[in-house]
Amino acid sequence: MVAIYPGSFDPITYGHLDIIERGVKLFDRVIVAVLCNPNKQSLFSQEKRIEQIRHCTAHLDNVEVDSFTGLTVEYAKQRKARVLLRGLRVLSDFEKELQMAHTNQSLWSGVETVFLATTKEYSFLSSSVVKEIAQFGGAISHLVPENVAKDILMHYS
Ligand code: PNS
Repeated sequence: MVAIYPGSFDPITYGHLDIIERGVKLFDRVIVAVLCNPNKQSLFSQEKRIEQIRHCTAHLDNVEVDSFTGLTVEYAKQRKARVLLRGLRVLSDFEKELQMAHTNQSLWSGVETVFLATTKEYSFLSSSVVKEIAQFGGAISHLVPENVAKDILMHYS
């Protein structure tokens, strides 16, 4: 079974990596799909985000990294995947995630969203938190993979 793990990944964090590493144990293949949203300003380009994810998932055989535009369910249909994988960190995530899962199901009844509870130590972690810490010169090496930390430090230096 193929699962799509869609997201912005701007940039990928250890929280995302945790979901990917656990997802590959449950599914035959996990496609990490980077949303290319022209309306949203991102820190890293789509190409850079893909490169960052490829680099830190290189140790996993059954991971593919790709990008998409438009609706996630249309991308999932195109990739013949019926499962969307998402992480849940805290209760406040649940409301947004449930709404998204219901929206996706209303668009395509064939899709299922599978939630994994993010490992407790990363429950506070988000790409935005990482960017904010880095912007003010704080340590981020415990929050993102080494290659990503380098890119972020280079950006803010
Ligand atoms: O990492 P994020 O920003 O929380 O990921 C959100 C994402 C990319 C999964 C969501 O915004 C999405 O699926 N966008 C594509 C547009 C879409 O399909 N919208 C309908 C479902 S809400």
